[in-house]
Parts: sequence; C-alpha cells; structure tokens
Amino acid sequence: MLPYEDALSLPLLYHLNSEPWLNQDAYADPTAVPEFAPVGQPSEAVPLPPRTDDSPLSALLAARRSCRTYARKPLPLTAVARLLDNAYGTIAVTLRDNGLLGITRPIPSAGGLYPLNLRVLTRDITGVPDAVYDYNVLHRCLEPKTLPVDAGEVTDHFLAQQFLEHASVIVILSAVFARTLKKYGARGYRYVLLEAGHVAQNLCLTAAELGLGSLCVGGYRDRALNSALGLDERREAVVYCIGIGHVA
Ligand SMILES: Cc1cc2nc3c(=O)[nH]c(=O)nc-3n(C[C@H](O)[C@H](O)[C@H](O)COP(=O)(O)O)c2cc1C
Repeated sequence: MLPYEDALSLPLLYHLNSEPWLNQDAYADPTAVPEFAPVGQPSEAVPLPPRTDDSPLSALLAARRSCRTYARKPLPLTAVARLLDNAYGTIAVTLRDNGLLGITRPIPSAGGLYPLNLRVLTRDITGVPDAVYDYNVLHRCLEPKTLPVDAGEVTDHFLAQQFLEHASVIVILSAVFARTLKKYGARGYRYVLLEAGHVAQNLCLTAAELGLGSLCVGGYRDRALNSALGLDERREAVVYCIGIGHVA
C-alpha cells in the first residue's frame, strides 16, 4: 500500500496513463455487446409494473439520446445559463459559523468539496464571441480565459469526432484533484469521477428539457486538451466533456 499521506501518486499514475486507447480491433469487435444473465428462478422473480413515462422526469429521461448531428444556428445565452446553473450552479449561498461560504448546488459532492471547474467552448451563442470561457459560479458570469479555439483544433482534441464542431457548446469538466483527495486520499479520485457523472447527467437532462441534443464525450486527448486550456494536469485535469446543441 502507498503511504497514507501520499494521496496523489496513485490517482495521477492512473490518470496520466489513461490517454485514449486507439485499438481499432476493440472498437470493431462485433461480440462487444452487453451481456444479460438469464433470470435465475423465474418463479421467484418479482415482475415489475410496466414502465411509464408520465412524470416530467421520466419523460426527460426517455427523451435523452446521444446526438451526433448538430445544426449550426444561434443558441440564446439564457439556454447556456440554464445548462450551467442546473449542472453546477448555486442553489443557495450561506455564511457558515466558521466564516466560510457554504454553497448548495444541484448535485451531491463528497464532503461538499466540489472539486470540479466548468469551462464552455462556445459556438454561435447570441451576443457572445466564440471562445473558451470559465463558468464563474459565484458571480454567475462567463470569463474568457483562452484564445478562441478553431474548429480544426477542437476536432483534433476530440479524436476527429467531427460532429462536435457543430455543437453550440462543449462543456468541459476539469477536476482540481487535491480539493477532494486531501480529505479522502486516493479513494477521492473515484469520488471526483462520480461527481463528474452527476454534472453530466444534469446537463443532458437540461438539454433534453430545452429541446437540445447532447453527447457525453470521454474520447479526447488529455495532454493536448489540458495544455490548450493552460492546465497543469498534475493539479487540475479535464475529466469529461459534454457537447450540446440543436439537433439537425
Ligand atoms: C463515459 C462516456 C464516454 C463517452 N464517450 C463518447 C465519445 O467519446 N464519443 C461518442 O460519440 N460517444 C460517447 N459516449 C456516448 C455513448 O456512446 C452513448 O451514450 C451510448 O452509445 C448509448 O447511447 P445513448 O446515449 O443514445 O443512449 C460516451 C458515453 C459515456 C457514458
């Protein structure tokens, strides 16, 4: 076992060594399909009532589908705000007895430590220059952080997945590992990734509510994308990306 005090070495060893696996045989393998185990004792199984889509949440869950054909047309800034606020915004801000701010957000977070930062790469948002912005949660604004990223460069970062060029926004989730690992040790790495999943699901469901398509993207070049965003990947690194836009 690694020493208790060394929370970062193991997660970083894994994270920095898990660049995309460009194994075409694995991608093309026709036998790589989900396996469903047969019901053990049918007589003992409890059948569930038929699925219903009659609640707003069930309808949104049914509407969510990965979208890989986006139409380039303007998206209002109000839609971007709704997406970001529902994903990782503030529900309430309180001043705690210890003088620190307590922030309630729309997702659970291990220890309430909120290790993620959200950036948005925008394309054709009404009144907003195309660029990469930090989502400033407390001040509720988009802060331009890097030079605009051209479409070809984006496609390259995302393993030539060209459909992402036409998404109105790509929300890039990065994690400041130490925020969670200093409390939970190496196990905190799991929590960071689980939290990113919560944020992504909120984005996908909000997109569905707005009539937009979404695509969760794990296929991106870590080193290239982190470096384009000016991140020191030993401290903060991209863990997930979500493309959102008008369905073509
Ligand atoms: C962690 C994760 C990473 C993914 N990465 C990609 C990706 O890089 N490119 C892509 O086209 N789809 C990606 N997907 C989308 C899946 O292919 C898709 O969700 C799956 O085929 C099920 O289809 P559905 O989302 O329409 O229900 C990813 C999904 C998840 C959960």
